[in-house]
This record gives sequence, structure tokens and C-alpha cells, in this order.
Amino acid sequence: MENFTYCTPTKYVFGRDAESHAAEELKNINIGRVLVVYGGGSVIRSGLLARVISVLDNAGIFHRELGGIQPNPTDPKVREGIGMCRRDKIEGLLAVGGGSVIDTAKAIAAGVPYDGDFWDFWAGKSVITEALPVGVILTIPAAGSEGSGNSVITLLDGLHKISLRTDYWLRPKFALLNPELTFTLPPEQTAAGIADMMAHIFERYFSPTADVEITDRVSEGVLKAIIEEAPKVMADPCDYQARANIMWSGTLAHNGICGTGRKEDWASHAMEHEISAVYGVTHGAGLAVVMPAFMTFMAAHAPAKGAQLARRVFDVVETDDRKAALEGIERLKTFFASLGLPLTFSQLGIENPDVELLVRKLHENKGEIIGGYYPLGAKETAEIYNLAR
Ligand code: NZQ
Ligand code: ZN
Repeated sequence: MENFTYCTPTKYVFGRDAESHAAEELKNINIGRVLVVYGGGSVIRSGLLARVISVLDNAGIFHRELGGIQPNPTDPKVREGIGMCRRDKIEGLLAVGGGSVIDTAKAIAAGVPYDGDFWDFWAGKSVITEALPVGVILTIPAAGSEGSGNSVITLLDGLHKISLRTDYWLRPKFALLNPELTFTLPPEQTAAGIADMMAHIFERYFSPTADVEITDRVSEGVLKAIIEEAPKVMADPCDYQARANIMWSGTLAHNGICGTGRKEDWASHAMEHEISAVYGVTHGAGLAVVMPAFMTFMAAHAPAKGAQLARRVFDVVETDDRKAALEGIERLKTFFASLGLPLTFSQLGIENPDVELLVRKLHENKGEIIGGYYPLGAKETAEIYNLAR
């Protein structure tokens, strides 16, 4: 196991009516003026936004609203939000939605006190040293942004989708998690969220670091729970207990606990981010296509971790590592298919993926070699994209 520092200062309030704590939690961190950020309309239709605004009004908290954040969020809304915050002397942000909304709020939070273009941080030209505090009301368990220090934004000019990872500054101060808010999710979003949270664990599980038994076992436990609970939320979207288990899994999958003490991989996310940037697909659906292809490549080149995953999570009994890994991938694909997830580019709606473009942008954006488990250059990433056809 490697040395590590594990600091996740986010306060979680979990359960029915969690969102009613919004004003109290904002006051706890001395925010009297807030920008409420939300998406394309689901929170208006469900009545959640109106409820949140009324909680803020009753507590005398000044608020402005920034709506219309689209999935795979882009820089113009971040710039609009930075302008609003500066004009109205906003002290903090409240993201009401999923990863796209939360990541936009985080980017605004970093940009407001910065005397330059916020993209400098995503481009690696500058490092965040201060940010407005961000609180979250989560409506979709998927990206795990409610507990992560990351924000994924696409710069429209050149179509660069970049994940900025920080240890501290972009971690939300609080996250209010009410499983009932996820009852309205369409099945394809529920399924994509499940694929995403599983991928967040796989990215940490495929690690070259030895002797991380505790972190492996925590990861395997969360994966097994997801596999057990997922069919229940698909069968009954209003099953509170199953929704609760899936919601908390999404946070644990990505708040760092499954990565402690080891080097992580993240090649599949880097590869998927190019697909969702270029083709506008749902991130989790893209991962359902990329992850099995990545694992198939690894079964041929470095099968040990895939074999362990197959035996411990998918109950494969095969003793040969390569064969075990391949059998595990088949079981993972069967599971994804049972949730209605795509497994190939064409099922994702991309008949003729431009692999050359994806590979070029991938290495332009993420470096010549990607991946912590097994180094992947352009030849290898092209092979993985082609395995996903
Ligand atoms: O926009 P609205 O109308 O709210 O609809 C959203 C959106 O269309 C809908 N939705 C959300 N909650 C709902 C709901 N519909 C009905 N009822 C509800 N309760 O779901 C759609 C997807 O929302 P989005 O926020 O895009 O989903 P997700 O949480 O999957 O976020 C995806 C984004 O997060 C990034 C992805 O790359 C992508 O840009 N990621 C962020 C990470 C992070 N910050 O740590 C890590 C992830 O790996 C990921 O890359
Ligand atoms: Zn993800």
C-alpha cells in the first residue's frame, strides 16, 4: 500500500427531506447570498426548485438563479455564472441537480475570485488557491461530484472536455441526499448513473499497486451492493430503500475511499470524455461501451486485476487469469445489457465512430501516454476504441 492523505470534508445529510436543510447548512458556513444553479428543467417540473427557493426565502437568504445547464456542461454557462456572482456579491453556490450542474457550480466557484480566465485551471496554466463554497442538492446518483474534488467542463472552442481534479478546493462543503428526489429519473439515466459509479470503482481497482486488500475489499463490497440493488431500482423507480442504497453507492464510489493507498487508472474516463465531447452522448452510457473494451484489452495484456474482479465480484471460478477475466467481462456485459445499457458504439447511436479523431483529441488533451494500470499510447487506445465497435 502507498502512503496517502485522505480528506473528504463534505458534510452529508442523507434521507427524506434532506433538501429542507439547505438554508441551515448555508448559514452554517456563513453564506447569506447564494447563486442557485440548476439544469434543463427537471427540478422545475418536480417542484424541487420552488421548494428550495421557498426554504431560502423563509431564512432570509438572498438568491439568484442560473438555470439551463446542459449535460456535458460547457464554458459559456460558467462565464455567465461568474459574471452574476461578481455583480450580485454572491458568497456561495447551491447546485441543485447532477454532475453537470455541480461541476458548473464548482467552476464558477473557482472562477469568481480568480483574476484571469477560469479555463486557466482546466488548461493546467494555473492552480486554484481559493474558491467560493459550494453546497449540493443531488438529484441523480452517477457522477459522484457531490463528494469529489473534480469538475469536468468542455471548452467549446476546440471541444476540449477536461476533468480538473483538486484535493480540496472543489469539494462541496455539504451535500443533501434525498433518495426520493431520484424517483423521477428516466430508466436510461438511472442505468447510466449505475454504469458511471461502477466505472469510478473500476478506475481505482485497476491499479498497479500491490497489497491494497482493504481498499480492494471496500471496492468489491460497493460493487456487489450496486449489482444487487440495481435491478430493484429498474423494476420499481420508487423503491426508496433500493434508491437509497444506489444513491450512497454513487457517493462512495467517487469520494476517494475506493482509491486510498494506491495508484489509480482513469484511462477509460479519459477515453469516454472524448466520446461525450464529440458525440454528445450520456457519460455513463459511453462508459458502458468503453469499460468492457478496456477490460478486454487488459485481459490480453495484464489480466491479474480483471481476474480478481471476475472471481470476487462476478463469482467466476476459472483458475486461468486470462480466461477468468474474459468470463468476468461477459458477466459485466450481461449485467449492463439487463439495465438496457449500450455495449457498442452502434448501440450508443454512433454507427461510424471517427476513431482517428478520438485518439488524436485524447492524446492532445490528456498526454501521449494515459492510464495508471497499464500505459496506453495512441496504438493501444485506438485498439480499445475499435474493440468497442
Ligand atoms: O437537466 P435536467 O432537466 O435537470 O435533466 C437531467 C439531465 O438531462 C436529468 N436529471 C437529473 N436529475 C433528474 C433528472 N431527470 C429527472 N429526474 C431527476 N431527479 O439527467 C440528465 C443528466 O444529468 P447530468 O447532471 O448530466 O448527469 P450526471 O450526474 O451523470 O453528470 C454527468 C456529467 O458529470 C461529469 C460527466 O463527464 C458529465 O459531464 N462527471 C463528473 C465527475 C466529477 N465532477 O467528479 C466525475 C464523472 O466521472 C463524470 O466525468
Ligand atoms: Zn464518471
